[in-house]
Amino acid sequence: MSAFKITGGRKLHGDLNVQGAKNSVLPLLAACFLCEGQSILHNCPKLSDVNAALDILECLGCRCKREGTTVTVDSQNCDMFEVPECLMREMRSSIIFMGAVAARTGKALMSLPGGCELGPRPIDIHIEALKKMGAVIECESGKLICEFPEGIKAADIYLRFPSVGATENAMITATVASGTTVIRNAAKEPEIIDLAGFLNKAGACVLGAGTDTVTVIGAHKLYGCEHTVMPDRIVAATCMYAVAAVGGRVRLKNIETEHLLPIISTLTDAGCNLEYDGHQIVIVSHSRPHNFDTVSTQPYPGFPTDAGPLLIAMSSVSKGTGVFIENIFDRRFGYIDELNRMGANIKTVGRVAIISGVRHLDAANVCAADLRGGAALAVALMASHGTATVKNTEYIDRGYDGFEHTFANIGADITRI
Ligand code: UD1
Repeated sequence: MSAFKITGGRKLHGDLNVQGAKNSVLPLLAACFLCEGQSILHNCPKLSDVNAALDILECLGCRCKREGTTVTVDSQNCDMFEVPECLMREMRSSIIFMGAVAARTGKALMSLPGGCELGPRPIDIHIEALKKMGAVIECESGKLICEFPEGIKAADIYLRFPSVGATENAMITATVASGTTVIRNAAKEPEIIDLAGFLNKAGACVLGAGTDTVTVIGAHKLYGCEHTVMPDRIVAATCMYAVAAVGGRVRLKNIETEHLLPIISTLTDAGCNLEYDGHQIVIVSHSRPHNFDTVSTQPYPGFPTDAGPLLIAMSSVSKGTGVFIENIFDRRFGYIDELNRMGANIKTVGRVAIISGVRHLDAANVCAADLRGGAALAVALMASHGTATVKNTEYIDRGYDGFEHTFANIGADITRI
């Protein structure tokens, strides 16, 4: 178990390259399983969640290799279909493998995902979508068995909510269905577009990704291909909210500015100075930020739920009062008690947080209990007076490739102990 020791008050200055997106790599790795031969993913961050996904692929018979940020997956002779329970537990999003594994081998066997730090993680939308394509899915003693006894059928699928993972599972599976599948009320997140780009290079025909109707014209086979993972918009948001909270001037490179528009809007309202073009942003903050009025999380292109904790970390030291409404997950405010231990003034009622900004936070030892909440605690410590630790950095390591190096390189006083 490790912790970050952080001394607050150091302004952030310099350039940083934003890592590849965790939420894109995971479905891309699942899709690699369906591609015959070798797939190469560039800009693949070193994260414990990515390692867990690679372990799953190896258990399924793939040969995986990493050189720097390039990962190669060879799924030439894969015929295994069981994902061991210990690996399912390591990565919450492992349900994303279900469609690809069942489509490639005719069967997938995996344990039911349990609840997670953000509340229950239901999978009914994934299951409904796969059933529409002919899957027979049974659940016995905590195990999920998914089979396509009559092959994968093209279908017209309506998702009751635009779930990111269910859209990805349905898209991946539909690429090898017989005929044309239409996914309606699909998620529109940029990671869906990245996945479609990969699938199309692999020989699929996916149209409309990034809109609420995705059409997939089934192909017989997918083949390994080469792809560069899109930049991580939540890591970019983390760095920008840190600059806003702490002060300084940072240039973020290797980003897609368009993906960050809801974040940029909150930072502009906070009084930060932002200059940007398509792939880089310079953020400057020299004074205490202003609090936002109301922000509520929504599916893309709304404000992303994953950036909420980082926004709240900035908001806790801002001038004025902000109202934040979490619409996507039930239990996302676990880190707020820890922020209040540093002297923040945040009240929560159900899914609403009311943040009355304070002039100073006092460093206090805190514990991460989830990925983005943990990152928010680290940002708050960077903005605080004094020295303290964030424990349980393994949560932060699930989504940030060398969090402490990223911030130390731009002037934060942060070390791993
Ligand atoms: C993905 C992201 C996660 C992000 C989330 C929302 C990955 C690896 N993770 O998670 O970081 O916070 O999108 O942007 O990409 N739901 C159901 N039934 C289902 C599926 C989902 O009720 O079958 C509910 C969930 O409980 C949640 C909401 O739908 O309340 C959104 O979930 P979803 O979009 O599926 O999130 P993930 O794909 O799991």
